[in-house]
Amino acid sequence: MSERTYAIIGGSSGIGFALAQALVARGDRVRIGARSPGKLEAAIERLGSGAIGRTVDTTDRASIAEFFAAGQQQLSGPFISAASYRTGAFRNGDPETSEALFAAKFWSQHWTVFEALPYLRTDAGVVLMSGAASARPIGAPAYAACNAAVEGLARGLAIELAPIRVNCLSPGTTDSELWRDRPEEQRESAYDLWGRLCVVQRPAHVLEQAHAALFLLDNGNMTGSTLFCDGGYTFR
Ligand SMILES: NC(=O)c1ccc[n+]([C@@H]2O[C@H](COP(=O)([O-])OP(=O)(O)OC[C@H]3O[C@@H](n4cnc5c(N)ncnc54)[C@H](OP(=O)(O)O)[C@@H]3O)[C@@H](O)[C@H]2O)c1
Repeated sequence: MSERTYAIIGGSSGIGFALAQALVARGDRVRIGARSPGKLEAAIERLGSGAIGRTVDTTDRASIAEFFAAGQQQLSGPFISAASYRTGAFRNGDPETSEALFAAKFWSQHWTVFEALPYLRTDAGVVLMSGAASARPIGAPAYAACNAAVEGLARGLAIELAPIRVNCLSPGTTDSELWRDRPEEQRESAYDLWGRLCVVQRPAHVLEQAHAALFLLDNGNMTGSTLFCDGGYTFR
């Protein structure tokens, strides 16, 4: 098989980094993107010779365009796990947890695929990232709607961009830096609640999410799908 290069937007930590590790381990090349130059450099060093990277902010279209233009490579797939946002109750009426959330998680992925388009091979697979709250919200209705919108975006893009395949990974609570960087008490109570709400009774490991993403990138018969890697959370 010819050499493959993947863009992992959000590849300096968490699920994106775990996927980058899996791709490099099997001999593919990765271009990772994230905002913090320090985290990015550390991640590239850990990934080794198969990895390069560049800073990017997915809330800024010009920054996304520069990221892809600087690579000038044909990509076998972008994986987009980059998102930084806050969630909150509808009754608070806070634009940060509604409109800004959509900018950070929905429009960022929409424009990232758009800017990536000139660099995608016809056999490429795109993997977007939502979250299991799309199907089973606990609250935060704008967050549920945003994740559902990302899943709808994947279905619509799968039609319009064919033969490029477009899928969505919808994780449940996953033990990544997203949680590890939060206070221990907050993290442990979230993990405890998750353990009681899902079937496997524990948060996911980042490697489990990376394997799910890899499946969506690789499997030529998967398009327009949302894969719930959520320990059975959404069917309970
Ligand atoms: N972990 C979970 O429990 C969970 C559950 C459901 C859904 N998800 C979804 O999964 C995705 C990733 O989660 P994760 O656990 O891997 O998070 P993570 O460990 O915090 O990693 C996020 C990555 O994205 C980058 N990033 C954040 N905002 C960015 C931006 N605006 N532009 C470019 N890069 C950005 C971060 O680096 P910088 O900060 O340096 O930019 C980092 O590399 C998110 O979409 C999240 O909503 C996660």
